[in-house]
Amino acid sequence: MEVKLTTAHAREIDADWLVIGVPETSEWGTELTALDDALGEQLSRLREAGDLTGKLAELLTIPDTPALNTRRLLLVGTGQPNDLTVAKWEKTAMTAVRQISSKRDLRIAFCVPEQLGTLSNERAIETIATALIVGSRGQDVCKTERSRYSFLAAQIVLSPNNDAALATQAAERGRIIGEAINLTRELINLPPQDIYPETFAARAQQEAAACGLTCQVFDEKQLEAERFGSMLAVAKGSDRPARMVVLEHLRGGPNAPTLALVGKGVTFDSGGLSIKPTDGMLTMKCDMAGAATVLGAMIAIARLRLPVNVIGYAGLVENMLGSKAYKLGDVLTARNGVTIEVHNTDAEGRLVLNDVLSYAVDHGADRMIDLATLTGACVVALGEDVAGAFTNNQTWCDQVLAAAKAQGEDLWQLPMFDFYNDLLKSDVADCKNIGGRWGGAITAAKFLEKFVSGKPWVHLDIAGPAFASSNKGHREGGATGCYVRTLIEVAEKS
Ligand code: BES
Ligand code: MN
Ligand code: ZN
Repeated sequence: MEVKLTTAHAREIDADWLVIGVPETSEWGTELTALDDALGEQLSRLREAGDLTGKLAELLTIPDTPALNTRRLLLVGTGQPNDLTVAKWEKTAMTAVRQISSKRDLRIAFCVPEQLGTLSNERAIETIATALIVGSRGQDVCKTERSRYSFLAAQIVLSPNNDAALATQAAERGRIIGEAINLTRELINLPPQDIYPETFAARAQQEAAACGLTCQVFDEKQLEAERFGSMLAVAKGSDRPARMVVLEHLRGGPNAPTLALVGKGVTFDSGGLSIKPTDGMLTMKCDMAGAATVLGAMIAIARLRLPVNVIGYAGLVENMLGSKAYKLGDVLTARNGVTIEVHNTDAEGRLVLNDVLSYAVDHGADRMIDLATLTGACVVALGEDVAGAFTNNQTWCDQVLAAAKAQGEDLWQLPMFDFYNDLLKSDVADCKNIGGRWGGAITAAKFLEKFVSGKPWVHLDIAGPAFASSNKGHREGGATGCYVRTLIEVAEKS
């Protein structure tokens, strides 16, 4: 879907829907006031009657507007202008787009608000472009009749204070980010019979080829030669062989640092022999969300031609319970030589990530971020909408937190005190793969820390936010594509 820009006045726009923000205050700005005039002060009357309060994300549709060139108007509350943030604006724009994307072949025009509080014009435009792409794509990857349709034409209506050149860049960036988020969502939403290590890798190759990104796929023999003992043990219970995808974007020159993005790609997590109950297993197609997030971000980083060095890794396995499955009591030797006693085959994500992280370290990573739907404990701690952040290097973590904040995505750091390591001690091996009942998100992170050789590293546990369990105004249940934006922002600022 193309996203165009126009400098025409809102009242002149010919579209099926014109979307315009309405603040809670009486300062409506020139465009909204002009619309109100053209509509014989209908909007003022609605405000007086209490039907157009301008409260954040409040929607009011005017389905027939003969006085205007547009067929319909969607008024969307932007709240108190001084309080507007990226996060609020993103939810508002998504809510608006979702309201009008259930019909085919619509032409939509979306006005940039004139009052943006602390939000920059460019960020507001980027966010609109992303929302136009993401909000018009549903979760219905296998329905015969789709529930949402991308727009026939989409334009962003610039406000008088927009700089045209910067606006063009911002809209293009927003479109690329939106498409990356949709790719991530699609891969997570697709059923596990379609997405398994080989097909994920094939899709990654195809997407990478389309944007000039180098993509290497390691098969099980190459992984064995590279001593991925821990990751390969997890794959043993499945007929589907393991894969690792490596995506290289090296545009920062030889002296620039290399950022490694590592994703957990368990294409289905049955729990293995420590099998999950039905309820817990139901959504476990989402256990490759980390890998899908890394792929989405890498594609966007390549398409944006960011002048940086970034390598994306996806560790891909299916966690099943065939007769060859790894067992409780097995002792695995990870790629870096650390021996691990298996106490629970459902703590498999860390056994995949550890080998990929150590490979990334050996192949030039100067700093790393891994993303994983790693623990239910993190969801208990932070709820469904916030990822946990864990680090061995506060400076690096602060950069990641700042990037998330700039993109309006919520992250919350959890502690990494030394004594948590005691919980991972094993009688027979260097460590075991679970910590015990309490602090499970942290012990999982402490486990991973053993494999990063002290390189600056941030682990994001996205078990809660990667896959939404219910519908909200700004998004529906299913894959969210969260943290694709944050990764792109980190790469850009690194
Ligand atoms: N993939 C799960 C974690 C998960 C839970 C992701 C809920 C998304 C939503 C992970 O592999 C897992 O099973 N973790 C176990 C660890 C435990 C055995 C120490 C868990 O959280 O119960
Ligand atoms: Mn598991
Ligand atoms: Zn898992």
